[in-house]
Amino acid sequence: TVERTLVLVKPDGVRRGLSGEILRRIEAKGYTLAAVELQHATTEVLAQHYAEHEGKPFYAPLVEFMLSGPVLAVVAEGQGVIAGFRSLAGATDPTAAAPGTIRGDLGRDWGLKVQQNLVHGSDSTESAEREIGLWFPNL
Ligand code: CMP
Repeated sequence: TVERTLVLVKPDGVRRGLSGEILRRIEAKGYTLAAVELQHATTEVLAQHYAEHEGKPFYAPLVEFMLSGPVLAVVAEGQGVIAGFRSLAGATDPTAAAPGTIRGDLGRDWGLKVQQNLVHGSDSTESAEREIGLWFPNL
């Protein structure tokens, strides 16, 4: 069945001018862009988006980082796109992420308290629907 997933190009990706490259990889893989919008995140949306990480040591730096500049919010669509995009993104830690992936090719450790790893992708059908509703309440 056709799925939708929420992708965020995080502030490091937008700042470094990698939005186009990341959208290109999503489209080159054969997925469809159903929505693309440059947004300034709010603490309210981030608190819900990252609810599962509340209390972890990287939570405050993560929220601060996500507020440090605009993010590109994207809904991508296609068969298996939820797992497929996570495969395109690569491992959370950009140092460990395999070459060929977004994080492996374009990311690295900048020595900061939060992993600046360029992209977010939903991890299940439930989180995808929840996150799409958060970032695109009118979709
Ligand atoms: P993401 O998987 O989109 O959502 C949680 C984010 O927290 C993750 O990307 C990283 O940006 C960050 N993160 C996860 N684990 C760590 C960690 N151990 N140390 C620092 N940042 C982390």
